[in-house]
Amino acid sequence: MHALVTGASSGLGFHIAKELKMRGYDLILISRNEEKLKTAAEMLKSSIYYPIDLSKDYKEVGDIIEKFKPQVVVNNAGFGIYGDLEDQEWGRIEDMINLNVLALTYITKRAVEILNEGYILNISSVAACHSQPKLSVYAATKAYVAMFSRSLSREMKSKKGVRASYLLLGPTRTNFFKNAGMPTKGLERIMLSPDKVARYAVKKMLRGKRRIVPGVLFKLYCF
Ligand SMILES: NC(=O)c1ccc[n+]([C@@H]2O[C@H](COP(=O)([O-])OP(=O)(O)OC[C@H]3O[C@@H](n4cnc5c(N)ncnc54)[C@H](OP(=O)(O)O)[C@@H]3O)[C@@H](O)[C@H]2O)c1
Repeated sequence: MHALVTGASSGLGFHIAKELKMRGYDLILISRNEEKLKTAAEMLKSSIYYPIDLSKDYKEVGDIIEKFKPQVVVNNAGFGIYGDLEDQEWGRIEDMINLNVLALTYITKRAVEILNEGYILNISSVAACHSQPKLSVYAATKAYVAMFSRSLSREMKSKKGVRASYLLLGPTRTNFFKNAGMPTKGLERIMLSPDKVARYAVKKMLRGKRRIVPGVLFKLYCF
């Protein structure tokens, strides 16, 4: 029984992988930086890991799904860019759309084609729920993830035994903000812990819940 997690080297993905491991799944870990991924794999006692830049080589994941037929597929790898659109570098925007949208869609499509039963969890954000100045493209990628997953989840309900869920995640203590160049002032006091979010998300996903929103504040924000 395998579970595939992208972006598993740190942050939420690492904790989701840990949670799935505790529930008896054999892990397939994917992220970009080989050293970081190897360290994470050692910590998670997992021997199956693939360093792949999913902004570019996401189609490689199709073969991995074909090989292992995982029961769980978590599309977690993603990043944001903070700043006025005119100041954001086009190459980074392209990589972000490729990763947050194209890679996620491709991996989901291959999972749906190949698997007869199991669970898909796509990581969106509460940024999808309202307009986000200085995060316009990032918020749009996450709105895509939410609507894509929501529609797919309903489509799948009448078909095979594959359930699709999506996580509307609020600010969470990970490297996300540093990588996005985003200040955290005013956010620290409402930030979620990645281990608690991971436990909650995995539990709800395995119960087949379509829309998962950790935290009362964020349930209200995305009401
Ligand atoms: N933290 C928050 O407040 C927050 C809120 C809402 C939604 N989210 C979403 O949650 C997800 C997880 O992010 P996080 O908060 O855990 O951030 P994080 O700590 O920065 O983790 C991001 C993960 O994605 C991987 N990754 C980044 N670019 C990649 C690429 N091109 N190819 C393969 N892997 C790549 C990273 O691996 P490498 O280090 O190897 O690149 C890392 O494992 C993301 O989709 C993010 O948009 C986060």
